[in-house]
Amino acid sequence: MSSNAVEFVFENKIIKIRNPDPNETILNYVRLNLKKTGTKEGCAEGGCGACTIVLGEIKNNKILYKSINSCITFLPVLNGKQLILVENLSSKEGKLHPVQDAMVNFHGSQCGFCTPGIVMSMFAMFKNNKSINNELINESLSGNLCRCTGYRPIIDAAKSLNYLSRHDHFDKDKLITLRLLKKINEKNIEITNNYKKYFAPKTIKDLKKILKKVKNSKLLSGGTDLSLEVTKKRKELKNIIYLGSIKELNFIKIYKNEINIGATTPLINFEKEIKKYYLDFYNILKRYGSVQIRNFGTIAGNIATASPIGDTLPLLMALDAKVIVDGNNGKKTISINDFFIGYRKTKLKQGDFIFSIKIPILKQNILKAYKISKRFDDDISSVCGSFNLEIDKNYIKKVRIAFGGMSEIPKRALKTEKILVNSKFSQEVFNKATKNLEKDYSPIDDMRASKQYRLEIAKNLLLKCFFEIKNQKILRIN
Ligand SMILES: Cc1cc2nc3c(=O)[nH]c(=O)nc-3n(C[C@H](O)[C@H](O)[C@H](O)COP(=O)(O)OP(=O)(O)OC[C@H]3O[C@@H](n4cnc5c(N)ncnc54)[C@H](O)[C@@H]3O)c2cc1C
Ligand code: FES
Ligand code: FES
Repeated sequence: MSSNAVEFVFENKIIKIRNPDPNETILNYVRLNLKKTGTKEGCAEGGCGACTIVLGEIKNNKILYKSINSCITFLPVLNGKQLILVENLSSKEGKLHPVQDAMVNFHGSQCGFCTPGIVMSMFAMFKNNKSINNELINESLSGNLCRCTGYRPIIDAAKSLNYLSRHDHFDKDKLITLRLLKKINEKNIEITNNYKKYFAPKTIKDLKKILKKVKNSKLLSGGTDLSLEVTKKRKELKNIIYLGSIKELNFIKIYKNEINIGATTPLINFEKEIKKYYLDFYNILKRYGSVQIRNFGTIAGNIATASPIGDTLPLLMALDAKVIVDGNNGKKTISINDFFIGYRKTKLKQGDFIFSIKIPILKQNILKAYKISKRFDDDISSVCGSFNLEIDKNYIKKVRIAFGGMSEIPKRALKTEKILVNSKFSQEVFNKATKNLEKDYSPIDDMRASKQYRLEIAKNLLLKCFFEIKNQKILRIN
């Protein structure tokens, strides 16, 4: 049995919407239907944070608060969650929430357009963390742009939260919220709105049945890429299959020699685990979009988009990761190095889906990765390079180099690797290797970077990798 209704908790009530338009964004719904216009639209592509709202989800009988970009999240994704808008922060009696108080006290707002989004990002940070430091503040606000106040007063406001009472009306209402969230039905969802359909199966078995029945469908995970087809390209998605309700796809399993990450695991969960094994993978993820993007975006979504500038892809290629594909064509394992077959094209066939990604744990190796973008936070790479080396007695035993932004697909530098492997770990060898990068890549000119710039950067990153390993020193400017 499936339900055609989307149910979520809002202002201590369950709201039920039957057969909503699956292409409608949460932002449009709250502004046009709920008439709550505090949440703003700036860019409509997840880049400015003006539309930030917070969703409450149950985790271990507690509520986890996630900031998200409502402009790129489809309405049915709200099912089973608590919707919190800027209008909900102050108490019924009109008392400001501590994060609002802090923004007032530190003059954190001028024109006010960005302020609701900033307040919501701060709210999620405040609710999920017992103490707040500079790193956490910078990270939590990395997806919110303010064009007029300047960030210092906003950061000062965030710092002051350490000294304010933690108790708010969300704590007071916690038991009611938990009870309501648990009441929402656990059925599969199947929505029909004119010619548009939306499916949210709860199990892999049901997903496979839908994939068999509905041929021209689009799989939806975090939606941080797919939704832009609607919000930016003005296309319509007729058949959406949402994977985020399938618990069997949301996991991280650590084995002796590998990490297995389920397809719908949000990047924000993955970054915490990968830090223990590959610090540079973690460092790249910290600069991946924003907290709002990583709260919903997934590594499987990044792989399936096959974007030449997808940030995880060169790292996964340098690490020789495996993509586990399931679906109606059977289960198979494909090396990430064979997965991309053309511009935004992969080996996935109709009826397939990514089940998980396996990353080897290589204890003898050094992994270095660098992202070059115009802006430090919340920006897409011009070039992203990843280097995986095994060095033994000053000789390079194994090497894998992969770059994003250097060709129409993320690609290994096979000719350069040949120069390095079995050679001495020396500057001379690395100097020689940099020249080979021109044989491996012929990048394009575009608005992010010229061909010449990309090539120079790639060479310099290879040398930076050498000097960092040789001198055991991190050479980076944040
Ligand atoms: C503001 C902003 C900033 C961004 N910053 C970065 C960045 O710094 N670095 C970067 O690399 N990317 C960035 N992105 C792009 C995007 O966030 C990533 O590509 C993300 O990983 C996509 O994952 P998702 O779960 O949101 O995918 P979705 O949008 O849900 O899906 C993307 C594609 O993958 C397919 N898909 C999803 N899951 C599966 C599955 N399990 N099996 C098969 N196909 C599947 C979908 O059908 C769709 O075609 C950014 C995007 C935005 C909007
Ligand atoms: S409106 Fe800019 S991030 Fe949503
Ligand atoms: S206060 Fe004007 S954009 Fe931030």
